[in-house]
Amino acid sequence: MVLEIFEFLGSLHPLIVHLPIGFIILTLLVSILIKTKNNSVKRIITIGWFFSFISGGIAALFGWFLHDNNYYLESQINIHKWSGIAFVILTFLIWILRALNFNLNKSFNRISNFAILILILITGHYGGEMTHGKGYLMKGLPFIKQNKIPTVFLSLKENSPDSIYVFEDLIYPVFEEKCIACHNKNQEYGGLNMSKYENIIKGGNSGLGIQKGNPYKSLIYKRVSMSQNESNFMPPAGTPLSFDQVAVLKWWIDNGAKLKTPLTKLRNDENILSLVEENYNLDLREKSYIETLNLAPIDENKLEVFKEEKYHWRFLNSEKSLLDVKFTGKKITRNDIELLTKIKDHVIWLNLSNCQLKDDLLSFLSQFPNLTKLRIQNNKLTDKCIIYTKDIKNLRELNVYGTQVTDASFNIFSKMKNLEKIFLWNSKVTPLGIEKFKTQNPAVEIISGF
Ligand code: HEC
Repeated sequence: MVLEIFEFLGSLHPLIVHLPIGFIILTLLVSILIKTKNNSVKRIITIGWFFSFISGGIAALFGWFLHDNNYYLESQINIHKWSGIAFVILTFLIWILRALNFNLNKSFNRISNFAILILILITGHYGGEMTHGKGYLMKGLPFIKQNKIPTVFLSLKENSPDSIYVFEDLIYPVFEEKCIACHNKNQEYGGLNMSKYENIIKGGNSGLGIQKGNPYKSLIYKRVSMSQNESNFMPPAGTPLSFDQVAVLKWWIDNGAKLKTPLTKLRNDENILSLVEENYNLDLREKSYIETLNLAPIDENKLEVFKEEKYHWRFLNSEKSLLDVKFTGKKITRNDIELLTKIKDHVIWLNLSNCQLKDDLLSFLSQFPNLTKLRIQNNKLTDKCIIYTKDIKNLRELNVYGTQVTDASFNIFSKMKNLEKIFLWNSKVTPLGIEKFKTQNPAVEIISGF
């Protein structure tokens, strides 16, 4: 019962502290601004110091109760506590001296006014840092650089996002900042040591810290996401976890709370992806194969292959390294194709449709490492040509409509890991064959006309 009353009074501390601030500022204003000090002005000033002392004393006492019930960090609380106590002592001394009619000269008044002002500023500021978090005062200023991006991400653009982990790089740094001070090897409040992954999962006296797959049964998640008014809320002092930090923690637990979940896994979840990208200034979206290519601009001399005017061509990018090539003649020969192999690295799209192309002429295709789109429709091609396309490592899109390709080719399509789209209408494939292929390869799109 008594304890609960103390706890209640403690919770009034943040409210009561505004009283001595108001009293002392009013008292200082009166004593500085009113130049002619008759007896009644002097009495008002003395009463002002008295009220500042009494309200300061009550605030300090309530602060003491609050400290006893909460788990503020000693390092945070010390300056606040001692400057608060100094405030109470100084206001008491000055009030007593004035009440006893000591003859206080002008410079004594000036010094004491100045000292009390400094004390109230220090006490107030450090009190604010405890409730609102370190650096709260400057945070909103537009010209203060917001240092939001953890250093590990600065080099991310060069590194692969696959080497960045959700726990290690997003979650643990938050724990380090907001929890470790009270939950470490030496200081295990609640029996919980949060300095290592294993210990975080294991939890403290009340059991599992993290229940993999279930945030609502994970004590750590519960404690940071409950209402801040609850006495169990963590961290008990300082800045709570931000909305996105709680969201990332929840996502991580939902997805198995693994030590090594790469950041790129976040891609599966649009909401959390945009949250992380915004807050950490990352671009985690999957790059298309072409975007990852880093080819040097094509050598002008090599473009001689197009002199024969059998090909149409254009650059696909402003750096002039990627080519879209189309054969425009009536009949293609082995010679024409050999010309192309001189620029094989740069051919990204290739169109050899409608030019009496034969299966065997396609055997050269495996030499085109960056070919992503191949159009060979409307030629007398059979399943044999598909065997050659299998060796084009990065092929995404294949157009073979109007050919003799049959269901036998589906076997080979299944083995082409990067294939995304196949155009097959007007060929010899059957609806049944397509149906079967689709159930086994749902990611590949078939354009068949059926
Ligand atoms: C200022 C000190 C302090 C900080 C900072 C702090 N805690 Fe605590 N924590 C405690 C104390 C004291 C207890 C034991 C009393 C209780 O259970 O509320 C505790 C208990 C817990 C428990 C319950 C352990 C158990 O098994 O009973 C969890 C979970 C917890 N804290 C999580 C966190 C997390 C997560 C953070 C960081 C976001 C954090 N704490 C930051 C002081 C702190």
